Amino acid sequence: MSPVIEVRNLRKTYGAGDTAVHALRGLDLTVEKGEYIAIMGASGSGKSTLLNILGCLDIPTSGTYLLDGIDTSDFDEEQLSLLRNRKIGFVFQSFNLVPRTTALANVELPLVYAGVRRAQRRERALAALDLVGLKDRTHHRPNELSGGQQQRVAIARALVTSPAIVLADEPTGNLDTDSSREVLAILDRLHASGRTVVLITHEDEVAAHAMRTVRVVDGRVAGVLV
Ligand SMILES: Nc1ncnc2c1ncn2[C@@H]1O[C@H](COP(=O)(O)OP(=O)(O)OP(=O)(O)O)[C@@H](O)[C@H]1O
Ligand SMILES: [Mg+2]
Repeated sequence: MSPVIEVRNLRKTYGAGDTAVHALRGLDLTVEKGEYIAIMGASGSGKSTLLNILGCLDIPTSGTYLLDGIDTSDFDEEQLSLLRNRKIGFVFQSFNLVPRTTALANVELPLVYAGVRRAQRRERALAALDLVGLKDRTHHRPNELSGGQQQRVAIARALVTSPAIVLADEPTGNLDTDSSREVLAILDRLHASGRTVVLITHEDEVAAHAMRTVRVVDGRVAGVLV
């Protein structure tokens, strides 16, 4: 088995001097291809900091991160964003959709960045929206959709590029029980179809969907529960 995520001695410090915050303090983590893992831990323990680095949205202060075997240590912002576009689908707690445009246009966006032609973009975005059960909402704008539907659009956007890894930071944190269940069912299906899924959650019932739970305590991985 080849790890899709390999993190060694990862450190992230925000700020400097007296006000420096050591969010990650030498964290190690390996995730195999096709795994589904849940990350849990107290508020402020460094979970989002870790996920943002795994998603190439931020860079560590030190340590190494191998993504699908590629060492990202010396990558600049442009290289990181290219890699992100090719390998990562990111789902945020607050959906982060572009407000004044349709579900379809939101889902097409990563394909625009990837330089995919218009006709193919449309076809793939429609297929992704179909996959999350939103075929009949393609021309709705985010404010015309429920929270659960918005999160499903965000998931469609995350998977439209066929990323190796789907990262989700408390994807059900802003959703009611029914919408949470739908979102978790979609993540289950993604995992079943061979995707690697890494999700942050505060809820045991959500973590139960994963194959294993990684606990982050004070910027390090504490214990691994199977
Ligand atoms: N951009 C930033 N600038 C300064 N400090 C930050 C920044 N982002 C996070 N921190 C600090 O780093 C620490 C870890 O934050 P992080 O967001 O990773 O925690 P978390 O485990 O995701 O918490 P939560 O469960 O509340 O989302 C916290 O002390 C936080 O205040
Ligand atoms: Mg967080």
